[in-house]
Amino acid sequence: MKIAYISSEAVPFVKTGGLADVAGALPKAMQKLGCEVKVFIPKYSDINETNFDLTYRDDIGEIQLKIAGELRVVRIYQDKLPDSDILVNFIDCPYYFNRESIYTDDIDEDERFILFCKSVIEVMRLENYSPDIIHCNDWQTGLIPLYIKDNYKGETIFSKTKTMFSIHNIGYQGRFPKSSMRKADINEIYYFREGPVEIENTFSFLKTGLWFADIITTVSETYSKEILTPEYGSGLENVLILRRNSLYGILNGADYTAWNPAHDIYLPFQYSGENLLGKLENKKYLLAKFNLKYNEKIPLIGIVSRLSGQKGFDIFAEALPELLKLNTQWIIVGNGDKRYEDLFKSLSLNFPDKIISYIGFNNELSHLVVAGSDMFVMPSHYEPCGLTQIYSLKYGTIPIVRKTGGLADTIKDWDELSYQGFNTGNGFSFHDYTGYALYSSVKRGVDTFPHKDTWNKLQLNGMSNDFSWDKSAQKYVQLYDQLINGSLNS
Ligand code: ADP
Ligand code: GLC
Repeated sequence: MKIAYISSEAVPFVKTGGLADVAGALPKAMQKLGCEVKVFIPKYSDINETNFDLTYRDDIGEIQLKIAGELRVVRIYQDKLPDSDILVNFIDCPYYFNRESIYTDDIDEDERFILFCKSVIEVMRLENYSPDIIHCNDWQTGLIPLYIKDNYKGETIFSKTKTMFSIHNIGYQGRFPKSSMRKADINEIYYFREGPVEIENTFSFLKTGLWFADIITTVSETYSKEILTPEYGSGLENVLILRRNSLYGILNGADYTAWNPAHDIYLPFQYSGENLLGKLENKKYLLAKFNLKYNEKIPLIGIVSRLSGQKGFDIFAEALPELLKLNTQWIIVGNGDKRYEDLFKSLSLNFPDKIISYIGFNNELSHLVVAGSDMFVMPSHYEPCGLTQIYSLKYGTIPIVRKTGGLADTIKDWDELSYQGFNTGNGFSFHDYTGYALYSSVKRGVDTFPHKDTWNKLQLNGMSNDFSWDKSAQKYVQLYDQLINGSLNS
């Protein structure tokens, strides 16, 4: 089975969030199950010959594409996903992709990903590559299903190709003015009406993907149900209700080759469930690094997150006066919305012996925080899957989460009333999206922390959970199979 996996980010090449973790790991798990996978991502400026082992594909040469009336030259580079023979094709067009960040507010953001979608298809044509499935991810790839069904309808290499579209986050919809359709060579008169591509009088790449893909998936079962409601569907609930027979929720997995405390290359002290001493050493190291005093009675609570509205920092701010009264230390690593960056900066200035904030993206530090913290907080308003709570479990770091999306599917509330030996809880969770509910869960964690036997049981419960990719990859492959042999509704 030939799978083309299309994403705007993938580790180790480029990452802003969990999509990169998924795109760097799922193709490998699928390859193990017998799929032949090729990955396509843009070549941003940080992906260069100095950092990676890139080779220019002169078998393809230069591709010329007309975008918004201008001819643009595209070159293709290739590398492999580490420890695999999976080819990654990088779409190189410096005019569009050499920018300060990988996603921008520039007025040609639409053109950047129109070029990406078209280039992916052009590469397939030039290689005479006929994938069974083109697996698209998030709005940046949303035009591909329409291109395959319409603009490239006559191409024999795609006559049997099916498209899958995976929603990692419905909050990002790639909305552009209607005039953007002309740049994308999509017929306005035919498609810009209630239905295929339009939302609130804009042209949405995400909606286009949802409308035209043969099958839709999202990254947890709970989220696949939540997005059918106005509260979580962000205006796209109706198109999803229309397509609900083609919508599946498959929980993300964790790449335990990168996220396992027993061989995590970023940790000064590696450890496992049999001996948690290394975890304590990491905590001491982390605190010392940021000049906080270690005290065995004080739990350290970690956050590693994009600082965006989705992640629940408004209820965190609401809960702060009470949270600050608890005898805890905090470490926050994140970047994003200025208001939250400012909030965390001012907290660490005002409470230097209690709160550390690191504003920025730092992969190494993110591993250290997941390992060195006692608890890990994710008060998300919505969370399609969430990976950091899954990583925390493996590191014996107790997640405190709001019960939504993938958080609800991975964190089982510790039931204080159940007999400890039978208690399978692995974290603390709350339902209401309020500062009070968040505070109450943190308080439960803080109150449980001194009871070392209970704490240890909680840790071991989480550490023994298995969220590796194998099971989820099997579900994708099963869907691919059913799509190809026509046994699915679409
Ligand atoms: P999302 O994709 O919504 O950001 P996930 O929990 O699925 O949420 O994935 C986030 C990923 O990004 C995790 O691998 C996490 O460790 C990483 N991450 C988030 N913020 C930072 C940061 N500031 N520095 C380093 N890694 C980060
Ligand atoms: C998104 C979601 C996150 C999910 C990740 C990978 O960015 O916000 O919940 O884990 O994609 O699927």
